[in-house]
Amino acid sequence: MIMTLSIETLRRIPALLLLGFTVGMAYAQSPAPDLATQQSIIHELEPRIDALKSDPKQLAQMIDEGRSRTILCRTCHGKEGIAVKEMVPNLAGQNPVYIVDQFQRFGDGRRYDYLMSGLAKSFSDEDKIKIALFYSTLKPQASHDGDPALIPEGEKLFTTICSECHGKDGHGQKGYARLAGQRTDYVVKMLKEFRDRTGRRSNPWMTAVAFKLSEQQMQAVASYIANLE
Ligand code: HEC
Ligand code: HEC
Repeated sequence: MIMTLSIETLRRIPALLLLGFTVGMAYAQSPAPDLATQQSIIHELEPRIDALKSDPKQLAQMIDEGRSRTILCRTCHGKEGIAVKEMVPNLAGQNPVYIVDQFQRFGDGRRYDYLMSGLAKSFSDEDKIKIALFYSTLKPQASHDGDPALIPEGEKLFTTICSECHGKDGHGQKGYARLAGQRTDYVVKMLKEFRDRTGRRSNPWMTAVAFKLSEQQMQAVASYIANLE
């Protein structure tokens, strides 16, 4: 995954990490996340998912089984993966490696949400992959919420800070989240979780990024993201 990043990003990572850990030491009680674990999970998953993609019949079957395991999820994430409740993320079109990685995190406590943590523990690794494949094939839809007046400012922030990891179009890549079209309320909530190191979610890169944003800048970048297709 790292290899697909630009040289410029690679050059910046040590600085971002350093900033992340400094921020962490100054502001929080929770330990820095285990990046080695994160990388190994992603590395294991990528080839597995790629192999499945070259076997359309098995892939179709897995997607179908994934769909059948998401009946309960519809109450919040919507039948087609477009959230139907506040503060809930859209899942349609999300990168499958990212989704599985988040299930691992909910399951082992690196990310916390009362319901999601419990659910993630109840899934086998196979289930996680099937569900992730199912959501990744659904059609994403921009939420178009947020404040239109803030979009130009948001665009500037996005292109200078976020696009390097989340992609120019916000579609993400492999382990990185797709952001395009995501709900404003959810994006702002996540930025604050990272910034404040509440322990519900942690990632040194995102903490370093979010720490630099004002409240208005968070609203602006989220408004821009909400309108990306
Ligand atoms: C009662 C509402 C609810 C239900 C039901 C629910 N979720 Fe969630 N889900 C959430 C919320 C809220 C979050 C964001 C948690 C946070 O604040 O970190 C979330 C986060 C996620 C994420 C992380 C997405 C991201 O962009 O990081 C995934 C993946 C996910 N849910 C999958 C599922 C699946 C699969 C099911 C069904 C088996 C399910 N959820 C059922 C409310 C729900
Ligand atoms: C150095 C790389 C990097 C940069 C730059 C970056 N991000 Fe991230 N972002 C990540 C990673 C990695 C994750 C996954 C975090 C985790 O481990 O859960 C993430 C996760 C997120 C999430 C949570 C997505 C979800 O579905 O729950 C949001 C929202 C987000 N980033 C917004 C932004 C915004 C807005 C910017 C620019 C202001 C930005 N990011 C810049 C690497 C980056």
